[in-house]
Amino acid sequence: MNRLATTFTGLEFENPFVLASAPPTESKRKILRAFEAGWGGVVTKTIGLHPVENVAGPRTIFQRASDEKPYVSRSKRADTVSHSSWNWELISDQPLDLWLPDLEEIKSTYPDRMLIASIMAGAGNEEEMENWRKLARACVNVGCDAIELNLSCPHMDRKDMGANIANDEDIIRSILKAVTGAVSVPIWVKLTPSTSALVDAAGAAYDAGASAISLCNTFPSLPLIDPETLKFEVEVDGLVTSGGLGGLAILHQALQRVSDISRAYPDKAISGIGGIRGFREAFNFIAHGAGNLQVCTAAMEEKGSGGVGVKLIQELKDDLNEYMERKGYSSIEEFRGIARERIVEHSQVRRKSDAYNGGYEIAS
Ligand SMILES: Cc1cc2nc3c(=O)[nH]c(=O)nc-3n(C[C@H](O)[C@H](O)[C@H](O)COP(=O)(O)O)c2cc1C
Repeated sequence: MNRLATTFTGLEFENPFVLASAPPTESKRKILRAFEAGWGGVVTKTIGLHPVENVAGPRTIFQRASDEKPYVSRSKRADTVSHSSWNWELISDQPLDLWLPDLEEIKSTYPDRMLIASIMAGAGNEEEMENWRKLARACVNVGCDAIELNLSCPHMDRKDMGANIANDEDIIRSILKAVTGAVSVPIWVKLTPSTSALVDAAGAAYDAGASAISLCNTFPSLPLIDPETLKFEVEVDGLVTSGGLGGLAILHQALQRVSDISRAYPDKAISGIGGIRGFREAFNFIAHGAGNLQVCTAAMEEKGSGGVGVKLIQELKDDLNEYMERKGYSSIEEFRGIARERIVEHSQVRRKSDAYNGGYEIAS
């Protein structure tokens, strides 16, 4: 019996662990290696139609925290543990025409693994809606099982793309209308965590036909300045701009956002992302309602695996399986969402006395 098998948005996953859209899924070579290693699915690095030119310097740094004289830095030191990734990488610079034969070969080599194409175009006019349709149709025609709409890239100059549009319910609806009208596979929508309107944005996406919300993309953030050199830890010609924080440092924020959506729409699907390094983080996402788990930073950090988390996927599967066997669970559905009802309003948490009325005076 395969306890790890899950059905998510109607797709059969042999295990719920998926490599997120990022460098681990940027090429055919890496995706084939990831499937060989045992990942249940991959979301491709985001594919688009607009020009892409990355910064003239490192695109990603990995930051570590030390215990002795604690500080977070990318600098190599003894006895450190992973803290986060920080990146300002744009979407894939491989054009759609080159992606399509690769996707076809990947799917025919691993027909039982789930291949999700992440796509991104602009908004606000019919030409951009046609770009969404074109990208979705092309990927589905070569065998992709689902589409993930990237409405969350945190470092786009274009105001009609990525995280810049994820607060706009009309735009979310218009993109979903275009894509659901063009293809009939499940559509996952990756939203930005960086908004106070997340629950409404997710509601608009579900209402307009999204099969799942994927959450979180990286959090907008700045790299640190080294006090000695006065340089940013990553910069080009002394300049830097907002980039995305990922990895362990975002785990708690990601869980809170997944919980918000899961409690607002308990019957809807969520793919949980943000800081998963092992079974315990994955478990937490499932407990808050996620039925699928995506991983990026931890896979990139694994040495000797070409950045696709060969040891990581084995550990994730073994540890989840061992836990489920020990607890008598036959499917993650049996404990998915168990934390939901224990997340309450602040004032619903018991006080030492009855004198507290949510910050308001008690009427006499
Ligand atoms: C270098 C890098 C590039 C990324 N590129 C993309 C991308 O093209 N599309 C996308 O949807 N997310 C992208 N992401 C975000 C990841 O898919 C993921 O949402 C985020 O890193 C949080 O997961 P983690 O904590 O496991 O890293 C990227 C992340 C990193 C670190």
